[in-house]
Amino acid sequence: MPRESSSKGKNIAPQVKNFIMVSSGKGGVGKSTTSVNLAVALAMQGKKVGLLDADIYGPNIPRMLGVEGVKPEVVGNKVLPIKAYGIEMMSMGSLMEEGQSLIWRGAMIMKAIEQFLRDIMWSDLDCLVIDMPPGTGDAQLTLAQSVPVTAGVTVTTPQMVSLDDSRRSLDMFKKLHIPIAGVVENMSGFIAPDTGVEYDIFGKGTSKAMADQFETCILAEIPIEPSIRTGGDEGKPVTYYAPASETAKRYMKAAEQLWATIEKINVEGGVDNQAIQPNTPPGVSACSTAAAPQSSTGSCGTGCGCH
Ligand SMILES: Nc1ncnc2c1ncn2[C@@H]1O[C@H](COP(=O)(O)OP(=O)(O)OP(=O)(O)O)[C@@H](O)[C@H]1O
Ligand SMILES: [Mg+2]
Repeated sequence: MPRESSSKGKNIAPQVKNFIMVSSGKGGVGKSTTSVNLAVALAMQGKKVGLLDADIYGPNIPRMLGVEGVKPEVVGNKVLPIKAYGIEMMSMGSLMEEGQSLIWRGAMIMKAIEQFLRDIMWSDLDCLVIDMPPGTGDAQLTLAQSVPVTAGVTVTTPQMVSLDDSRRSLDMFKKLHIPIAGVVENMSGFIAPDTGVEYDIFGKGTSKAMADQFETCILAEIPIEPSIRTGGDEGKPVTYYAPASETAKRYMKAAEQLWATIEKINVEGGVDNQAIQPNTPPGVSACSTAAAPQSSTGSCGTGCGCH
């Protein structure tokens, strides 16, 4: 099985072969849940996996892996990742006191993301799954400029308002030259445990047209299921604790498909983040979109330097 990455460009965590960015346009749709279960599934399939919680303001991964309150070991000027379910993990939640808030400007978020990649002693990993905050902002851009992201996964719920924002997330992958590995439609229907009757609480199957539009696939349809929520709250991922459940099987299948896509991307030459490197002086923010109003010189007037 070819496990080597053939990616090029800037990589401040070169011991990691592949980077998987889990994004969404809207908050609360299940990115962290998806990141945890995909990471656990990949590890159960024999990959060496890391999970980076890049949601600096709302770090939920420690609780979802049952390691909240566990403090990481510091070795020299590096920090060892915390281990759980065969994966390595780091989160701002593991570095701060519980319940404390961070009130930071974008520049500090960017610095934190870089340090999470450079100053954590990640092992030689087959892949690092990165749980992003919602949206298309500083964290996403910094990550894509710091490491060559091998594959992007967008998580959405079936409602139109979520799909609207998911299109923005998929458009971001395109603008950042990140190959799209697929869409996870989460909270896709609900099967009543007592009667087995299926209810479309948020809808179901509505993401397919969006996936087609971006020439990608549906990696999984994950129903609303109480064990997913309790698994998150209690730090017992459903994929690990209930491997025979339909949901766990869907996460396992999604992980297999995701890995096959990553191998294909590497066989075809990998990814390169050279084209999205900032071309602005230090301290001046860069943007990746031409959507801002432009002056007669073609500049958006923000000094971003990218167009
Ligand atoms: N399929 C599901 N069935 C039941 N509960 C779910 C499901 N998916 C996610 N949840 C629950 O919904 C809540 C939100 O999920 P999660 O934290 O993963 O979303 P998120 O997109 O990461 O949110 P944020 O944007 O705040 O980072 C959690 O309590 C989680 O356990
Ligand atoms: Mg989250």
